[in-house]
Amino acid sequence: KIVNGFDLMNFAQDNHYILPAFNTTNLEMTYAIAKGLNQAGLPGYIQISSNNLRLSSPDTITYLTSDALKDSDVPIGLHLDHGKSYEHVKACVDAGFTSIMIDASHLPFEENIKEVKRAVQYCHFYGVPVEAELGALKGKEEDIVNEADCKTDPGMVADFVERTGCDLLAVSVGNVHGLDLTPKVDLPLLDEISKVSPVPLVMHGGSGIPFETIQKAREFHLLKVNYGSDLRKAFISTFGEAYEQNHNEVNVIGLSLESIEKVSKKAAELVSIINA
Ligand code: G3H
Ligand code: ZN
Repeated sequence: KIVNGFDLMNFAQDNHYILPAFNTTNLEMTYAIAKGLNQAGLPGYIQISSNNLRLSSPDTITYLTSDALKDSDVPIGLHLDHGKSYEHVKACVDAGFTSIMIDASHLPFEENIKEVKRAVQYCHFYGVPVEAELGALKGKEEDIVNEADCKTDPGMVADFVERTGCDLLAVSVGNVHGLDLTPKVDLPLLDEISKVSPVPLVMHGGSGIPFETIQKAREFHLLKVNYGSDLRKAFISTFGEAYEQNHNEVNVIGLSLESIEKVSKKAAELVSIINA
């Protein structure tokens, strides 16, 4: 059964645990993430970005996730990552997602607040927590590229959280999306933000961030870390390498099973190390 986001957050806070949120893109990755978390015996989220909803509908992903979690022994939530509109938020809550992000971080402060507030009103009615973002990350998220690096201003945090009613805050502290840039996480800035934020923090762009940095960030109320590219690379390299070796390779079933193994191993490794 897909676990409610508030319950996952409570578990993490009670156990001083960092919840990994792994991006899925398709059926194989969804099964692989569930398998990896179960192998590690640790809770987390399967998440799918708004952008990825061009490929799979919220109902499809809820169905696949429920199926993948049939034999799960660990609590796993289903999260909308980088929700780009109220319509997407609503569609995902209605489909059974148990945690939501509304990302209006590209908008001016007051408009960001307005968008988040609207999402919060809907989500909270259904008992679903909301993650919002203040500041913006540089880098590449699937096919969306952002050149601007806008760090989270600690002076705006309390006002933002109080006025929006969000439950989790995604921050920009030198973390980046994708594998092309090197993240330089500013831990003193994260510390400063954690002291003024009424809610726990989220780190996007987990791929490439040194594990010690994540482990250290736990002291600064980091509750959730997103991993996308690391898993996508594990998935895509299975097919790329096989094709490089043999241009007549057409064993999609065999390679899909192999990709599930690789992705699940990566997910199990990541969740275990950050919580070591
Ligand atoms: O929202 C998703 C994450 O921020 C993924 O970032 O691909 O750099 O791990 P990443
Ligand atoms: Zn992200």
